[in-house]
Amino acid sequence: MSENFTTTQTGAPVASDEHSLTAGANGATVLHDVYLVEKLAQFNRERLPERIVHAKGGGAFGTFTVTNDVSKYTRVAAFQPGSVVKTALRFSSVAGEMGSPDTWRDVRGFATRFYTTEGNLDIVGNNTPVFFIRDAIKFPDFIHSQKRLPGSGLRDADMQWDFWTLSPESAHQVTYLMGNRGLPKSWREMQGYGSHTYLWTNAEGERFWVKYHFRSNQELVDLGIEEAELIAGADADYYRRDLYQAIERGEFPSWDLHVQVMPYEEAKTYRFNPFDLTKTWSHKDYPLIPVGRFELNRNPENHFAEIEQIALSPANVVPGHAISPDKMLMARVFSYPDAQRYRVGTNYNELPVNRPEAPVNNYSQDGSLRHSFKPASAPVYAPNSFGGPAAQPARAGEGSWESDGELVRAAATLHSEDSDFGQPGTLYREVFSDAQRAYLQENLLGQANGITIGDIRERFFQYWTNVDANLGAVLRERFAAGDAGQTDAASEMAGLPA
Ligand code: HEM
Repeated sequence: MSENFTTTQTGAPVASDEHSLTAGANGATVLHDVYLVEKLAQFNRERLPERIVHAKGGGAFGTFTVTNDVSKYTRVAAFQPGSVVKTALRFSSVAGEMGSPDTWRDVRGFATRFYTTEGNLDIVGNNTPVFFIRDAIKFPDFIHSQKRLPGSGLRDADMQWDFWTLSPESAHQVTYLMGNRGLPKSWREMQGYGSHTYLWTNAEGERFWVKYHFRSNQELVDLGIEEAELIAGADADYYRRDLYQAIERGEFPSWDLHVQVMPYEEAKTYRFNPFDLTKTWSHKDYPLIPVGRFELNRNPENHFAEIEQIALSPANVVPGHAISPDKMLMARVFSYPDAQRYRVGTNYNELPVNRPEAPVNNYSQDGSLRHSFKPASAPVYAPNSFGGPAAQPARAGEGSWESDGELVRAAATLHSEDSDFGQPGTLYREVFSDAQRAYLQENLLGQANGITIGDIRERFFQYWTNVDANLGAVLRERFAAGDAGQTDAASEMAGLPA
């Protein structure tokens, strides 16, 4: 008999993977076929709940190598000269479900992990530098508007544009999304951003505000609207396949990590609120400073174990990198570990893909599927007088900033040039090429044709007029003339008129 025989989950040899135990060859199946029962039960439990957002994705592993000395700004171990650390990167789409086509128009997730000697550092960002909203309390409503109608289960242009046009702070991100960046050719051929402002601290305790930029070393390529639709039908896993195959071929994609660094005191007077996630910092004001190269060179050996179960989170911070007073970021720190305790299980950080390279030392214990434990003699509480791990009070001030103090529900104070439509207007007029402007117009016209409620369509034209008066006028005019523009996959999928 072969040494490589099938067993039950508890190690006992089994007689067949083809025939259930039955009362006679044509008779009833018996409940005490322990292997059959176990096999079916295990199968029923193969899935985790999918991520509430960013459900469809793929990823790989690699290395981050420091190429430039930024130690005067940060003491993050992974960013010190000579450092090389292991990394993970999961790409995703935001709104679609686990089986959604990769090439539906969407923002793409760009979620990185650095396995540093002082713990896991995760920078969980997107392929755009800004976001749709600036206060976390709007996040569930925003996502509901982008997902499906409760009755029909269909996605709905009216609902999407209703939310966006009633939330003018969305204009900057929607300009990116509706432009060519909403349909990258692959995950390899796009940029990544940390998007939020984070706080860096150097070895001397000096503080700096930073934004992370992952600049692709692959050419930046986008899909045409029709091309993306065709691919969505023909190959739902187009991006996942592209990444996997490129790495198998030995073509390792890489991104050069840069940061924009703002001296701590300048945040108060900068012309844009630096903690408003709908705003960028001008590169003229804060030029990109290189840090190192992030390369992907290993495919997952098991997609479920390493990509489905990876639990990336902005709460995973390390000495030298901290949370800023960005109202979105502060809430994300709660939301991700909460989602992961539910989605994966309370001890998710014990799984190999989540386990840090640094030792884990604290007094948490037990819980579902816990398997690490300390010697029976180790103390289980703090403080203790038995030599258990002790916290370091000297670190209490790390990553701190001043706060107003009073509890209020209010929009953040405006800085001199803050406005919802200013930066999207600049993006449209000064950053987009003629071809990119033409693309955006075509797509927006298609979107206008997908809106079925007159009031929402009127707000849509006003929204784009606020971004750029000429753009709004052209859209109104062409729509009035019966011009259909080009529908993209999202509206097509919603079954809306082309
Ligand atoms: C995934 C919440 C804003 C990027 C998730 C998940 C939750 C979540 C619960 C699923 C986590 C999991 O199950 O593992 C929120 C909330 C936000 C917010 C409450 C606002 C307050 C953002 C922003 C970005 C972002 C601003 C980008 C700048 C991502 C990415 C993923 C993700 C890339 C997928 C991570 C992965 O690949 O596993 N978000 N999110 N989210 N979010 Fe957010």
